[in-house]
Amino acid sequence: MVDCMNKVMLHTAVSCWQPFLGLALVAIFIGSAFSCPTRCECSAQTKSVICHRKRLQSIPDGIPIETKVLDLSKNKLQAVNPDDFSTYTHLEELDLSGNIIGNVEPGAFSALLSMHSLSLKSNRIKLIPTGVFTGLSNLTLLDISDNKIVILLDYMFQDLHNLKSLEVGDNELVYISHRAFSGLLSLETLTLERCNLTVVPTEALSHLHNLVSLHMRQLSISILQPYSFKKLFRLRYLEIDNWPLLDVVPPNALHGLNLTTLSITNTNLSAFPYQALRHLPYLTHLNLSFCRISHIEGSMLRDLVRLRELHLVGAQLSYIEPYAFQGLRWLRVLNVSYNRLETLERAVFQTPETLEVLLIDNNPLVCDCRLMWILQKTHLFYFGEAQPECITPEGIRGKPFRDFKEPLLSYYVPCVKPKIRGNKTQTLIVDEGQPARLHCSAEGIPRPVVSWITPRRRQVTSKNNGRITVQTNGTLEIRISEVHDSGVYICLASNAAGNDTQSASLAVKSLGTSDRSLYANRTSQYSTDPNNTTANGTNLYNMTFGLDLKTILVSTAMGCFTFLGVVLFCFLLLFVWSRGKGKHKNNIDIEYVPRSNGAGAEGPEPAGPRRFNMKMI
Ligand SMILES: *[C@@H]1O[C@H](CO)[C@@H](O)[C@H](O)[C@H]1NC(C)=O
Ligand SMILES: *[C@@H]1O[C@H](CO)[C@@H](O)[C@H](O)[C@H]1NC(C)=O
Ligand SMILES: *[C@@H]1O[C@H](CO)[C@@H](O)[C@H](O)[C@H]1NC(C)=O
Ligand SMILES: *[C@@H]1O[C@H](CO)[C@@H](O)[C@H](O)[C@H]1NC(C)=O
Ligand SMILES: *[C@@H]1O[C@H](CO)[C@@H](O)[C@H](O)[C@H]1NC(C)=O
Ligand SMILES: *[C@@H]1O[C@H](CO)[C@@H](O)[C@H](O)[C@H]1NC(C)=O
Ligand SMILES: *[C@@H]1O[C@H](CO)[C@@H](O)[C@H](O)[C@H]1NC(C)=O
Repeated sequence: MVDCMNKVMLHTAVSCWQPFLGLALVAIFIGSAFSCPTRCECSAQTKSVICHRKRLQSIPDGIPIETKVLDLSKNKLQAVNPDDFSTYTHLEELDLSGNIIGNVEPGAFSALLSMHSLSLKSNRIKLIPTGVFTGLSNLTLLDISDNKIVILLDYMFQDLHNLKSLEVGDNELVYISHRAFSGLLSLETLTLERCNLTVVPTEALSHLHNLVSLHMRQLSISILQPYSFKKLFRLRYLEIDNWPLLDVVPPNALHGLNLTTLSITNTNLSAFPYQALRHLPYLTHLNLSFCRISHIEGSMLRDLVRLRELHLVGAQLSYIEPYAFQGLRWLRVLNVSYNRLETLERAVFQTPETLEVLLIDNNPLVCDCRLMWILQKTHLFYFGEAQPECITPEGIRGKPFRDFKEPLLSYYVPCVKPKIRGNKTQTLIVDEGQPARLHCSAEGIPRPVVSWITPRRRQVTSKNNGRITVQTNGTLEIRISEVHDSGVYICLASNAAGNDTQSASLAVKSLGTSDRSLYANRTSQYSTDPNNTTANGTNLYNMTFGLDLKTILVSTAMGCFTFLGVVLFCFLLLFVWSRGKGKHKNNIDIEYVPRSNGAGAEGPEPAGPRRFNMKMI
């Protein structure tokens, strides 16, 4: 009561004297006029009243009407009623966190038109009825986290047009109603954490057209549905952290988003979500740390043209394939500490020159020539606090990268260029429909990777598992050969030290309709030296391999064989036609595919095809 009287008198005094007093004096006078409830600390300058941890059971008397900042945190307040704050229309910040509030009445804050910040954190609120936040049209920050809220009701934030940040974590949220976020036109940051949500509240989120940053942490969501995030046109930062049940990110899960930063961490993800990331060409930061990803494949991230930082720490990464970061021209930071990587080849990167921060510590690194590009230029990279070390070879085990000097390197780091065993050109002849195998085994340190180049210039690796594949020992296997498989194959053995190549020829004999019986009892055979076979006008195979490799490749590229195929097809038609007419019965041989020595002499061959073949070559 005395407080009240004081306030009124002082106010009168101020308004009477104000015109006559200097500005400085006014300031001092008002300062002394700012009363303070007992037990609280106040500041006249900031117009704040701090009643933190004062065991208050109700809102104390004597809070000045002009108070802007009111801190009632960590007390024993139980409820908020409509008339509690109706007089404090100047309030800008109100902190009610850490009380035992179980109930907030609609209209409780309706007079607080200037409020910027309201915290109801850490109370016992189970339900916030629609209307509680009515009038708070200037509110920018609202924290209702750490309560017992189970459901967010439709339109409960309707008036909060200026709200920028909303904290609703640590509740027992099971359901967010479809229109709960309606009206939050300015919301930029939303954090949903430690709730009982089991699905992404797609519909509710779709009202947040201006949301920039969405953090969803510690949720038991196990499935990300396709199109989980709709109409979030402005969203740039998405954080999915600590979803232990999440195993996959389906291809369309992030469709419709235009993110710059994406973080999917502490999940059960076992495969790199290439497809899901393809629609994010503006992505600059990607964090996929602490999951079970074991592999990054080549050429799968090409669409992430702006990616600058990739963090994949503490996963189970054991291999990053060459060309994995193809297309990533601006990759500056690669953070793959605490994984199972043995190496990191230069060929992984599109532009190794842009790389500045390279965290590869705590990996079982094998220092051979695959790592030479780093070891030779350690000064170009920042390796972080924990320096990377090799576990082999013996002589440099445990030596921090920064201590490497050139002479030591060439002495200790093994590096041997691939060498393909045997130097003779391999030749293989098989019947159509039979399997064909071309061998290629190479030595080198580290063990060379063998791939094959087909006559049609297609590269086949051990990853191809169709009709044509490469076995782990380097052998090219064609499961069921076809006539058009004929030609020169090149075996390419490569490791970080270099390449070696060798060619091999394959001839697949056609079992054409009329000739099937002729070849019926013949089996496939090898011949290691093509020069053994006698030259034969109709034997295209021999003639072809008399030429040097370059010419063959050029002619292959020019589609010569394809053309030949077409011409031969015409011949076939001619043949069928002529048979139909009863001419040349049974004595036309349109066989053009390679024949080996012993097989060359079947039946008389008409002059036509022979001449044709001569012309073709
Ligand atoms: C709301 O905030 C704006 C800018 O911060 C201010 O100009 C306006 O006066 C405030 N409205 C009320 C009712 O306090
Ligand atoms: C939310 O999850 C916690 C922990 O799993 C559980 O104790 C609580 O009962 C759940 N609440 C609801 C409303 O389901
Ligand atoms: C993670 O995935 C593995 C393999 O699919 C499974 O065995 C494990 O139970 C999963 N962990 C969790 C927490 O779901
Ligand atoms: C995506 O985001 C980038 C960077 O924030 C922006 O420049 C671009 O215009 C956005 N694209 C679309 C389609 O919104
Ligand atoms: C990546 O995510 C992990 C786990 O959430 C976090 O600790 C780390 O700081 C993040 N890295 C960056 C660069 O943001
Ligand atoms: C590398 O990753 C770790 C863990 O995610 C993170 O704490 C650290 O900040 C990252 N380092 C850099 C340089 O980004
Ligand atoms: C090995 O071959 C690849 C192409 O297949 C080429 O880019 C690379 O420069 C070659 N390396 C050496 C050392 O010849």
